[in-house]
Amino acid sequence: MIIAIDGPAGSGKSTTARAVARRLGFRHLDSGAFYRALTYAALRAGVPPERWDDLSPAELDRFAVRAEPAGEGFRLLHDALDVTSEIRSPEVNARVSHMARVPAVRDWLLRRLRQAARGVDLVADGRDMGTVVFPDADLKIFLTADPAIRARRRLAEHGIVEPDDGTLAAEVERLRERDRMDTERSVAPLRMAEDAVPVDTTALTFDEQVERIVRLAESRGDRSRTG
Ligand code: CDP
Repeated sequence: MIIAIDGPAGSGKSTTARAVARRLGFRHLDSGAFYRALTYAALRAGVPPERWDDLSPAELDRFAVRAEPAGEGFRLLHDALDVTSEIRSPEVNARVSHMARVPAVRDWLLRRLRQAARGVDLVADGRDMGTVVFPDADLKIFLTADPAIRARRRLAEHGIVEPDDGTLAAEVERLRERDRMDTERSVAPLRMAEDAVPVDTTALTFDEQVERIVRLAESRGDRSRTG
């Protein structure tokens, strides 16, 4: 069974997907982590963003990014080193949507993402899980939340629990800019799949949103078993 969770930046997809996967005993695939790892590797290799649109598959191979199953999900490696925390840096945040709009990059990853799903029950989160990567997913969720709430959650992840107005506004702007690039790009833009269930988490607690998705997954599972 595959559960696809998509949505805009900071909507809580990854944490929600991880919790849903744990509840169901599925593996968690954070597709954004792959785009982040490639961004990190390109910056480390000194390849300037102006050149990213022309990256070839061979160059992408040379970035030495790969994922290996670890715990309940996958660990992202660059040059065989675990880069799990490095790929969450503000520098990667600011650049990742540029990397993600490059068709050759999406193409290169498509195969790898599908390969990661082979033979396991999976909860995959990102921007195009339900529309492009796993169009036949058993359950598709589109997770949204009010921009100010998303910005607060994102800042809290970085330890800023009571942001002042300026800090909050700047974070809202950063999320907006990333959503704009993700929505307006020509390949695999961020959009809700026609058969996705929208879940607005603005007024939900984390446990409530997890519970809602687990229930939907359980009823889909029952339905596919009975007929
Ligand atoms: O966690 P957050 O929503 O901030 O971002 P993420 O899921 O780690 O994804 C980072 C970036 O990767 C997004 O802003 C997209 O540009 C890109 N991405 C994508 O294009 N397609 C995906 N399936 C996942 C991520």
